[in-house]
Amino acid sequence: MVARREFISAMVASAVSATALPSFAASDTDKVSFPKNANAQAPFTPPYGLALGGVPLASGFKITPLEDGIDAVRTAWQQGIRYFDTSPWYGQGRSERRMGAFLAEQNRDEFFLSTKIGRLLKPGNPPQSKVWPKPAPFHREYDFSAAGVRRSIEDSMQRLGVDRIDFVFIHDLSPDNGDMGSDWLEYFKQAQHGAMPELIRMREEDIIKGWGLGVNTLAPILKTLEVSDADLFLSATQYTLIRHQDSLAQLHPALRKHGKKMVVGSPLNCGFLSGAERLDYGGTITPELRTKRQQLQAIAQHYGTDLRTVALQFAGAPDVVTSVIVGARNGQQIAEDIASMQQQLPAELWQELKSTGLIAAEAPVPIIS
Ligand SMILES: NC(=O)c1ccc[n+]([C@@H]2O[C@H](COP(=O)([O-])OP(=O)(O)OC[C@H]3O[C@@H](n4cnc5c(N)ncnc54)[C@H](OP(=O)(O)O)[C@@H]3O)[C@@H](O)[C@H]2O)c1
Repeated sequence: MVARREFISAMVASAVSATALPSFAASDTDKVSFPKNANAQAPFTPPYGLALGGVPLASGFKITPLEDGIDAVRTAWQQGIRYFDTSPWYGQGRSERRMGAFLAEQNRDEFFLSTKIGRLLKPGNPPQSKVWPKPAPFHREYDFSAAGVRRSIEDSMQRLGVDRIDFVFIHDLSPDNGDMGSDWLEYFKQAQHGAMPELIRMREEDIIKGWGLGVNTLAPILKTLEVSDADLFLSATQYTLIRHQDSLAQLHPALRKHGKKMVVGSPLNCGFLSGAERLDYGGTITPELRTKRQQLQAIAQHYGTDLRTVALQFAGAPDVVTSVIVGARNGQQIAEDIASMQQQLPAELWQELKSTGLIAAEAPVPIIS
């Protein structure tokens, strides 16, 4: 078996040879010297079960007032959350700025922070989209090169007001990204020879604790497991009460085989499982899904709880999942989500969800102590 360090050296060597490709490699002058993370381990996983995600607090899907957004971060902190996930793309910088407004004032050693790379923000002409109804005045330029990684991380540090990012996910490098579609494999090639080896270097230099992909489909994660040496994956919308069969059949065994873990994003399918008229980042709520939600809700109520609580606990149950990242629009939502994770749900509830076929028989469920 190839030792991790040997594998990384091989990766870096192959990346260097592959990157006679000029735009993928960082020249020495491109390299920014960042402060380092102490005590980096490999592969590193966040030691927190619940994290606050940065989409809704940055006006994802509908406008979130500044005070509400910052209140989500403050309340999360006050109630013990120490893992925060954001991205340059969330609100075109707004999420990092709002998270940073609070987090930059805290002791940096006390919290864990992940952000993303892949889109550099440039002033002017934000794209119109339903996900970002009031975009900040920046558009995006995709850049999966080595130099782009360093530039993106430095930009994020400045927006956040911190001198370190713990974890970096390559963002939306995926066939469901409308800007890419079937071209995603071309972007993937750029990342494979540019961003991925550079992130490995940054991990070796102890600048970051680790890296992975943050995507809403399984294929890019499965591919990365085969071609590179990531630490942790953010799989969003794919491991939830209403959609988990493919992850159970394909993703979880692949992660186990490679000794890697994942964090779950969009555990509520962007609010569908907390009652919103919304499914994921552009999904259609079919009559069948609506019926399924009602059935799930009825069983949750029968056992004295609510659907959001069942959904959050379900997402965190598999052995390969280290953290559930939930998005909240204000302090009240995240406080309720924290309370959801603290509830003890009866084993009978999970048995009934399985016996009615609402969740897969083989799906892991929380262990009742
Ligand atoms: N590709 C990627 O890397 C990727 C993709 C997706 C997500 N993520 C990460 O994962 C995080 C979580 O996913 P998400 O924000 O997409 O969706 P989510 O966590 O599934 O759902 C968030 C929505 O659920 C509702 N909600 C949450 N707590 C609630 C409460 N206590 N009561 C009522 N409603 C509540 C809110 O809906 P309302 O809008 O109705 O208030 C909120 O906007 C993201 O914020 C992001 O950090 C990453």
